[in-house]
Amino acid sequence: MRPIQLDERLSLAMALFPSCREGADIGTDHGRLPCRLLEEGRCQRMILSDISPKALSRAQTLVQQRGLVDRATLVVADGLEALTHPVDCVSMMGMGGRTIAGALLRGCQRLAGATLVLSAHTELPEVRQAVEEIGYHLVQERLCRAGNRWYVFLQAVPGAARYTPLERILGPCLSRSGDPLLAGYAAWRRGVWEARLAGLRQAEAPEAEQIRQAEEVAAAYAALAAKEESPC
Ligand SMILES: C[S@@+](CC[C@H](N)C(=O)[O-])C[C@H]1O[C@@H](n2cnc3c(N)ncnc32)[C@H](O)[C@@H]1O
Repeated sequence: MRPIQLDERLSLAMALFPSCREGADIGTDHGRLPCRLLEEGRCQRMILSDISPKALSRAQTLVQQRGLVDRATLVVADGLEALTHPVDCVSMMGMGGRTIAGALLRGCQRLAGATLVLSAHTELPEVRQAVEEIGYHLVQERLCRAGNRWYVFLQAVPGAARYTPLERILGPCLSRSGDPLLAGYAAWRRGVWEARLAGLRQAEAPEAEQIRQAEEVAAAYAALAAKEESPC
């Protein structure tokens, strides 16, 4: 049987998922990542969960097709409620940042020290803040581009950290990393923030503090976009 195909995004998730006894993929939908982790022997067992029974049935089909039924637990659950016993690593990807942050804040007592692999489409600062609030810290932030879109992946482990508002926006690890994709990503984010800044300046009642923050973020992205590569 050919290996399950992973695009750049799921390949990066796989690279960040440590070898372990049991992992969990929350919001799994198609289930490709956990099935590949099982097939490669990276994880001995996996929990595959989704809030949607219809989405989970897609994962179930793949688990059955690939002969992984004995090593997979499938569960319909909201966020970390799927973790009924301790696991070693938990991934949550392909959801909004607010959904991921909410799941972390509501369910953190179920994490029991598990490594986190997170990738939100939106609201990344809220995810980074939730990581801080549950007593975790970021150890890696990596970029990839798939289907003409940028994706940021976070890996976090237990341990206290405090990030500034600017670090929560830029990414404390990403902005110091030598990721070869950083300059391109930063140039795109700079454009997003400059457009936001233009809107703020044209508002009927311009908010001075919001304008100051947007100027600071746009300037920080401009500096990152101009940087070739920097040491970690
Ligand atoms: C776009 S899919 C992402 C699938 C896969 N994780 C990936 O990144 O390719 C998002 C999935 O998250 C599920 N989801 C949304 N909110 C959830 C929650 N609170 N708990 C569990 N799953 C959730 C959705 O039902 C959907 O199947």
